[in-house]
Amino acid sequence: MSYNHILAETQGPVGIIRLNRPQALNALCQELTEEMGEVLKQYEADDAIGCIVITGSEKSFAAGADIKEMQSRDYMDVYKSDFITATWEEVTRCRKPVIAAVAGYALGGGCELAMMCDFIIAADNAKFGQPEINLGTIPGAGGTQRLTRFVGKSKAMEMCLTGRMMDAEEAERAGLVSRIVPLADLEAEALKAANSIAAKSMPVVMMAKESVNKSYEMTLREGIMFERRVFHSTFATEDQKEGMAAFAEKRKPEFKNR
Ligand code: CAA
Repeated sequence: MSYNHILAETQGPVGIIRLNRPQALNALCQELTEEMGEVLKQYEADDAIGCIVITGSEKSFAAGADIKEMQSRDYMDVYKSDFITATWEEVTRCRKPVIAAVAGYALGGGCELAMMCDFIIAADNAKFGQPEINLGTIPGAGGTQRLTRFVGKSKAMEMCLTGRMMDAEEAERAGLVSRIVPLADLEAEALKAANSIAAKSMPVVMMAKESVNKSYEMTLREGIMFERRVFHSTFATEDQKEGMAAFAEKRKPEFKNR
């Protein structure tokens, strides 16, 4: 299937979505977000896919929501169409892991899209920012909330109020990205991480993802209880039996996703 603004391909158990609007630095127009949502749903439904990677170009992951498309929209239009929630948030509804492989600009909605993913691997040329304030608006795809949880109030506030960009080093120091790799290695490193995840037990991977995400939504006591229950439930899986047997027998586990 071909799309107008993204490239979708699978490499073994990894589903790749490459944002592909070079003329607009991958600005996230409505159609692009619809296409991305459609492919995410396909990968989610495909048992052969164990992990998803979203990436852009060397120059730009995504330079934000499409400003030219947004400029004439009015309140009733964005409210009634549930702008952002309807299509962009498909990423957050994915139960399989989604890695953002970010090179170049991740600005506004681009930074927010990366933060919707489960973790961010950044190329050394990556630049993150929430410059919406320069346009007379505020982040609308989770920037004020997710960035604050990642980097703390002071830095998030400074970035949202001044529109300043941070480079990859600062983003790693602040905890926004899991690690930095040389630009030339970004795709290979993201695929390596994705393949490593896809080789594990898929239901258990999904449980781990769900448990980590609960830490954003629950008190510590509730979160620990949620984790404990899910941990206990892994003992009902064949894959936990296989994983521990393989360790004891000094061999590689063969997970069956059961
Ligand atoms: N929307 C629409 N078009 C965009 C765009 C965007 N977010 N970002 C870049 N483009 C377009 C430019 O208009 C330009 O198109 P033309 O050649 O037709 O003029 C093309 O991409 C290349 O951009 P520049 O010439 O500006 O490239 P540059 O290298 O000089 O600058 C940049 C790069 C600093 C990223 C600059 O393009 C820029 O500041 N972009 C806007 C960033 C921004 O404000 N993002 C937030 C958007 S609002 C948002 O995302 C809301 C939300 O929270 C959901």
